[in-house]
Amino acid sequence: MAQTGRTKLAAVIGWPVGHSISPRLHGYWLSHHGVDGAYVPLAVRPGDLAETLRLLPRIGFVGFNVTVPHKQAVLALVDEADPEARAIGAVNTVIVETNGRLRGKNTDAFGFLQGLRSGFPDWDPGHGPVVVIGAGGASRAVCAALVGAGVSELRLVNRTEARAEGVARDIGDSVTCVPWRRRGAALEGAALVVNTTTQGMTGESPLDLDLAALPTAAAVMDIVYAPLETPLLADARARGNRVIDGLGMILHQGRPGFAAWFGAEPEVTEELRRYILAGLDDGK
Ligand code: ATR
Repeated sequence: MAQTGRTKLAAVIGWPVGHSISPRLHGYWLSHHGVDGAYVPLAVRPGDLAETLRLLPRIGFVGFNVTVPHKQAVLALVDEADPEARAIGAVNTVIVETNGRLRGKNTDAFGFLQGLRSGFPDWDPGHGPVVVIGAGGASRAVCAALVGAGVSELRLVNRTEARAEGVARDIGDSVTCVPWRRRGAALEGAALVVNTTTQGMTGESPLDLDLAALPTAAAVMDIVYAPLETPLLADARARGNRVIDGLGMILHQGRPGFAAWFGAEPEVTEELRRYILAGLDDGK
């Protein structure tokens, strides 16, 4: 749709921001829904963050996404943050309210659960223990989502154990930390394993995890989406486990922001997945 003087504006704020798939994602939905809107990447230095947040509503932005390295800092800068964003300790979506106040949300937990359910529609928290690898920002969203969905035993494994203990403290009693050297044994009896580390991403080494103890009935999900099939997922697939890639999570996390800013409920379809994957291949 052609833009007009009334075009609604949204953005993604990051430093750098060139890697973000959000402009392509929201651009697809804007044109699919025929919305008079625009979604632009804004490269904002950490030192300019507070000023940018105050300026955007004044010049007509209806909201924005926040990416690396600003997600934690924005939590402290918004006027109000949803309880989930506070529990996760990060904001990835900001909505400008009619009075100009900034409301911070975290939609990564929602995106994760939707991504999990789109790859495994029958997944049920009662299936059994879940093992989460990694204790960074992504892990906090994944753990909050799993515990919120009703998982009663979450085994958290991270190379730096103190970080895992910090996540366990913030997320709750269902999280038990398992030492990194026992990560293989942590898979015994598990129903689901989720990699939230950067290992397996293009340019990084594969996740060092021996799947021998994992039941073949278990599912393995990787939140890395480039490549779509990480070495972990290839390994899991070869031994007969169900695998779920990370693309669903990143696409679904964009839905609540789009709906709030532009007033249309966007969907994640096979066509959208293909469109985003073609962009990843072209480096867009
Ligand atoms: P994000 O916010 O995307 O989760 P992050 O906060 O940098 O990113 O966290 C990266 C995660 O990958 C951490 O769990 C990190 O482990 P440490 O806490 O020990 O650093 C994990 N990670 C990164 N490189 C790793 C490696 N070579 N082996 C194992 N885990 C690694």
